[in-house]
Amino acid sequence: MRQFIIAGNWKMNLSVDQSVALAKDIVEISKEIKKTSIVIAPTYLALSKVADVIKGSNVKLACQDIHWQDQGAFTGKVSIDMVKDLGVEYVIIGHSEQRQYFGETNETVNLKVKKTLSAGLTPIICIGETLDERNGGNLESVLSAQIKGAYQDISKEEALNTVIAYEPVWAIGTGVVATDEQAQDTQAFVRSVLQDIYGEEVASALRIQYGGSMKPDNAAGLLGQKDIDGGLIGGAALKADSFFAIISAAEAQSK
Ligand code: 13P
Repeated sequence: MRQFIIAGNWKMNLSVDQSVALAKDIVEISKEIKKTSIVIAPTYLALSKVADVIKGSNVKLACQDIHWQDQGAFTGKVSIDMVKDLGVEYVIIGHSEQRQYFGETNETVNLKVKKTLSAGLTPIICIGETLDERNGGNLESVLSAQIKGAYQDISKEEALNTVIAYEPVWAIGTGVVATDEQAQDTQAFVRSVLQDIYGEEVASALRIQYGGSMKPDNAAGLLGQKDIDGGLIGGAALKADSFFAIISAAEAQSK
């Protein structure tokens, strides 16, 4: 049975003080959540302080990217050991904003996934198509290439320690959410690609989140779909009450 995973991607929002305050609120209101995995991904600058806040709670820490090298002359980058030391357990990799603005490719996603797994952390691998790709009939080829690229030379055992976030680019930050049916159909396809690579056992165990304008009012419908195992939330994760409403929607229909 796949456990829901609800993750808040705070992106380049919130100061360190604001991040600490939000983390405190989330810890407080999530105390009774027993079945749903809760993850928050603040700015790197707040990781250390937020780690202190969530210690001993059921809220886990993620960062929003890493570099695949261990160390060296990579100005502006952060290594896996640096974030692991701070208590980070999940790493968001290949977000569409990284792909769109910072040159992320399926190859660099793969390098980052390998580095994250080798450190014993869990990658949250983001995939998703643009509206042009969807309308042009390329949805399946784009997603398939993203998945095969991300999982290149990743063993079955390693694959089991990954999470996928399907985030249609046209739904991110736009308020235009995929319909329950669109999201379900696409995520079933994602699972079928995983099945082609790893077989039924791995494909049915892997958690696939939906991301892109998930909000309290549409979360229950999306999370009720067979192949949707959680959410990667942007805007609605920046306020404790809306993030908690989505967590509650997951908890209420925990599989
Ligand atoms: P929104 O929830 O703001 O659409 O962002 C989704 C996202 O990109 C999460 O990674």
